[in-house]
Amino acid sequence: MPKTFFITTAIDYTNSAPHIGHAYEKVLADVIARYQRLKGERVFFLTGVDQHGQKVQQSAAKEGVAPAQFVKGVTQKFVDLWEKLDVKYDEWAETTADRHKKVVREILQRLWDEKQIYKDKQAGYYSIRQEQFLTDKERGPDGEFGPEWGQVEFREEENYYFKLSAYKEWLLRYIDPAGAGRDAVIPDFRQTELRNAVERLSGDLCISRPKSRLDWGIELPFDKDFVTYVWFDALTNYISFAGYDAKIDKYESQPNQFREKWPALQIIGKDILIPAHGIYWLIMLHALGFPDSAMPQLLVHGWWNISGAKMSKSTGNTVDPAALAEKYGAEALRYYLMSDIATGKDADFSEERLVRRYNTELANCLGNLLNRTLSMVAKYREGKIRQARAEGTVGETLCVITNSKIREFVAEMEPAQVASALDKTLEIVVRANVAVEAAAPWKMMRDPAKADHLDSFLYTLAESLRIISIVISPVLPKAAHGIFDQLNWKMELSGKEERFRLDDAKWGGLPDGHVVGNPVPLFPRIETPSAL
Ligand code: MSP
Repeated sequence: MPKTFFITTAIDYTNSAPHIGHAYEKVLADVIARYQRLKGERVFFLTGVDQHGQKVQQSAAKEGVAPAQFVKGVTQKFVDLWEKLDVKYDEWAETTADRHKKVVREILQRLWDEKQIYKDKQAGYYSIRQEQFLTDKERGPDGEFGPEWGQVEFREEENYYFKLSAYKEWLLRYIDPAGAGRDAVIPDFRQTELRNAVERLSGDLCISRPKSRLDWGIELPFDKDFVTYVWFDALTNYISFAGYDAKIDKYESQPNQFREKWPALQIIGKDILIPAHGIYWLIMLHALGFPDSAMPQLLVHGWWNISGAKMSKSTGNTVDPAALAEKYGAEALRYYLMSDIATGKDADFSEERLVRRYNTELANCLGNLLNRTLSMVAKYREGKIRQARAEGTVGETLCVITNSKIREFVAEMEPAQVASALDKTLEIVVRANVAVEAAAPWKMMRDPAKADHLDSFLYTLAESLRIISIVISPVLPKAAHGIFDQLNWKMELSGKEERFRLDDAKWGGLPDGHVVGNPVPLFPRIETPSAL
């Protein structure tokens, strides 16, 4: 069965509008998906929205509208944003979709029939914000529940529980460095954090909420007075929208359309590794009969902060990605989000850095290289490039540098270190611009003995631009098409992703005598407003 590269992201809560953190995660996934396509892989990219739960019910109530209507409005904001940012997914997961609800119910029924779910009574402190009962472990050094839990109240309730703790030993074995899941979590230090958390795991997972206090959820198939806990519902999206058939309990008998995709590379933020993805999700899959070899890999990214502090709606320090894309363009925002944070680490968001990076790296470096190259080819050679042989020239050195930087780019992209990969591309651009100064084609032009040198040099520049546009295409698809268009290259595939292939990112692609187009400014400088 041919394997599809399956990539998912967290699905975003629809209790409020999207912010820059959401945008970062989706662009990162989009870049990885596009990079895999560039390599020739078949890709299935799933993302979507998390529409149930108490937070959503509360936000809807605050606005005085029904939750179904409320989520429709917020969902549209996410859909519009992904379109604006050129995030191209293959399937959209909305947890109110019938297809999803059916799988959630069937899974619950199966686990209930297998006695992996039981009913019990619980009394204790409950966090409304986190939608969970708290234990003494959650108390701070002062004996109080910290502000991260929001409003906490005492409750007594009957609920349904999933036998999570029965699988603790399995999970510990699985994520052990010598176990099958030694690379279950990237980066490594997050896997260590997960192991420490699993070691402390005690108790089972409450997977229901009484309808008396929350009715915006998926009704339990075996008790109509309860809805499903939002995490149990939401996590299931990764399989329900990938063709999983919950009626089939043997993993090997799942339909091909599911088997060819699964397991997924799942991109999530650091806040939802423990316990949601690292514990609940892996155990849910194991309990459903997924073998260790079918466990997903979790790529855990860091957070964007503002002036070192967590973004928060209550303090008003959130950043609206749609407004930024409107102001600077989607590609400027994509470039910033991919170049100013190391995957796995946190970073500080700064509009000033966005503008600075765009102006120096895209406008002054890459835009300038494109512009001067095409202008010189037009002026000195009437638009025609020639593959002349001229040994020992600056151009030859540039060819060696480009080839080695492309190898380094690939090495960085494999563990999704997009910022470092972009650095490698930028190095080619910088070296090419320096080479122009050193080679001074305007002088070569005046010396007929240097005609071959000049041809060889102009070819080198055009060729490095062709290669650069291939490797930047996952991050800057529009600009990459722009460069290809101006180079007059592969016009029959204009606008299509197949126009770029990683295999073509090697020296010598442009044929002798190729006629390039005229330069058109690709990255107009952003004039810095005085406020920045
Ligand atoms: N709905 C749940 C996820 C369910 S997955 C089955 C959720 N939603 S969320 O809207 O709160 O967050 C969605 C994603 O955005 C998470 O991966 C989260 O880590 C990420 N981010 C939220 N704030 C962020 C930043 N400030 N920076 C980077 N990513 C951030 O959790």
